[in-house]
Amino acid sequence: MNKHPLWYRIRGLEKMEARFGNNLIQKFIRQRLSTENTVRILELGFGEGVCLLELRALFPDKRVKFYGINDIKKGNMKKRSDFLENAKKFGIDVPKNLLPKPFFYDAGKGLHFDDNYFDAIISQVAIPYVGDKSKLLEEFWRVLKPQGKAFLHIDTYEKFYPDFLQVSKETPRFVIYKKGKLIKVSEHLNKFRKKGFDVRFKIKKGKANRCVLMKKTTTKPLKLGLRYDEDSSFDLTRFNKEKKIRGVWWGTRSVFFMK
Ligand SMILES: C[S@@+](CC[C@H](N)C(=O)[O-])C[C@H]1O[C@@H](n2cnc3c(N)ncnc32)[C@H](O)[C@@H]1O
Repeated sequence: MNKHPLWYRIRGLEKMEARFGNNLIQKFIRQRLSTENTVRILELGFGEGVCLLELRALFPDKRVKFYGINDIKKGNMKKRSDFLENAKKFGIDVPKNLLPKPFFYDAGKGLHFDDNYFDAIISQVAIPYVGDKSKLLEEFWRVLKPQGKAFLHIDTYEKFYPDFLQVSKETPRFVIYKKGKLIKVSEHLNKFRKKGFDVRFKIKKGKANRCVLMKKTTTKPLKLGLRYDEDSSFDLTRFNKEKKIRGVWWGTRSVFFMK
């Protein structure tokens, strides 16, 4: 069977939920609907909008509002009404007056939303592309409502990655140096858990998928204390035309130093 030409932008809710297990996202939205007047959900890197549209179809309640950020206008996703076109294309039945709201900018430079705005933030196969991943995590914390949750796929690791990606197997595209030595993202985030920030790093055993789960347990700002080093970070996709090695040349290898 031929792959859909936009296969890399059309992952849906089933794939998203499978990364975290047990339909946690849907369960959390249901739970928030029982306590909140308005429930806002943000997807970072919504691609063609399939996941947001599937959620919209599951939650046609107008108290639930969906938002998405892509860095650029691409594929068939350039304006809000494109959600309706894509819903038709993918056979998803959504109320046409309740389309998700799209935004187009580099989320690694900060989020254009107020503090304490979203009940849930979700993301798959998008954060690995972002340059300043540390700032992005801090911003997610800021825009989450108290007790809000983020379900984030932050990276992927495969055994066939080349040596320079093997040195940081936990998160090949999120590299932290402390006094010249590599430290793991999980180790760094754990320090913040001890300070009352519920930020957990998860790997499904033996799986490629690396995730971060957040629950906004304090309104104190999350400051990860990392400096993004643009000089040693690089966009792997720059090379994918020449190299053509399956499943390697995508995302940004972001390098950070402890402040
Ligand atoms: C490979 S597509 C994946 C789309 C969809 N999540 C999926 O899994 O099919 C990567 C997505 O991340 C978004 N993205 C990449 N870098 C970004 C950035 N710096 N800021 C905001 N969105 C970004 C792109 O616009 C695109 O929607």
